[in-house]
Amino acid sequence: MSADSPFPELKKTHSMARNGRPWRDYKPPPSAPVWGLIQGFGSYWALVAGVDLGVFDGTAHLGRCTAEQLAVELHVSAVHLRHLLDALVTFGLLDQIDDDYALTETAERYLCSDGAATMAGLVRVAPGPLENWEHLAQTIRNGSVQTPIERDPVAFYGPLVTATFPTQRRAATRLGASIGWSRRPGLRVLDLGAGRAPWASAVLEQSAGSTAVVNDLDGIIELAAETLGQEGFSERVELRPGDFHAIDIEAARYDIVVLGHVCRTEGEERSKCLIRRAVDALVPGGRLIVADYFADNTRKLNPFGVQMGLTMLANTARGGLLTHQQVHGWLTDSGLEAIRLLEPIGFNQVYVAHKPVDLEPVDHRPVDHWLTEDSPAPTTKDAPR
Ligand SMILES: C[S@@+](CC[C@H](N)C(=O)[O-])C[C@H]1O[C@@H](n2cnc3c(N)ncnc32)[C@H](O)[C@@H]1O
Repeated sequence: MSADSPFPELKKTHSMARNGRPWRDYKPPPSAPVWGLIQGFGSYWALVAGVDLGVFDGTAHLGRCTAEQLAVELHVSAVHLRHLLDALVTFGLLDQIDDDYALTETAERYLCSDGAATMAGLVRVAPGPLENWEHLAQTIRNGSVQTPIERDPVAFYGPLVTATFPTQRRAATRLGASIGWSRRPGLRVLDLGAGRAPWASAVLEQSAGSTAVVNDLDGIIELAAETLGQEGFSERVELRPGDFHAIDIEAARYDIVVLGHVCRTEGEERSKCLIRRAVDALVPGGRLIVADYFADNTRKLNPFGVQMGLTMLANTARGGLLTHQQVHGWLTDSGLEAIRLLEPIGFNQVYVAHKPVDLEPVDHRPVDHWLTEDSPAPTTKDAPR
């Protein structure tokens, strides 16, 4: 005990207050965040099981029902199903009224397979392959993903673009409504990495007499053709398959160029090249649309965007987190102006940027070609090769 501390307990309290860590000795911090993360694994797989077993569709079909009634409908064990239903209640996806279960509005809207806003198909594919998460520590140690999705893009993107179509179509429809595509007939749109073409089809629906050039890889472009055919737009569409870094693109031809959820897998250099290609393709006064799940500039205020960045790091050869500062910088560096950020549906943010009428053509190098089986995976993110 030092001479100036006759009351050691008081002294201890005061010094902790000064050091900014009061209470630590006798009131430990909560373990809830750690348990929350551990149990997050089980929560995710419970949701996957719910979708796989048809719990949400089955409950929609039966209406308010007991676990036993739903078990008969789904041909599963009632005892086991009840445990799953109780978990889904704690997640806010089912309501429990006495012994009955019913869908919450969230489940009804997003987890029933035939809903206009369904995310049911997305649940399994959105995180990427499970083994990439099991190897995350190794990925961070090595600075590269062992099996990036780019090794077999068709196998990964086929299910993904089908699962994500309802969500992106809603985002595109609402964006068009807010920026007025219906007031501009005859728009010419170029959709790069279009998937099932939710963005192009929203323009085609809203702008009378509009036309679209739709690009994606061989093996995925057929899915775009299928959706555009189902929507009755085939006549107004040219399909242009191939790597969006390498296909021929006319200069100063399009009123709208869309980069919908492609930049976050491309890394800095390739994203900048894509944006420059897009700007070259725009007519003066045309608009570039960059939709993605962005993070805030401090990378801590928008956990959704940060988690999306980690998902890209875990699964892709070059992808990662995109901040607004980064993307806004790419747009201004390419000479675009009047840049607006909109959020047509939750989390799904969209930059709309104008090409000035007097923009000089920019000189740009094409990037290396798409990662193929002949070209080895890069060993570090975005390393110059
Ligand atoms: C996340 S999906 C987005 C699809 C759609 N744009 C949307 O917003 O829903 C990314 C798409 O980019 C395509 N893609 C990835 N790399 C590409 C490349 N090098 N050339 C052309 N398409 C590519 C994928 O096949 C996939 O369809």
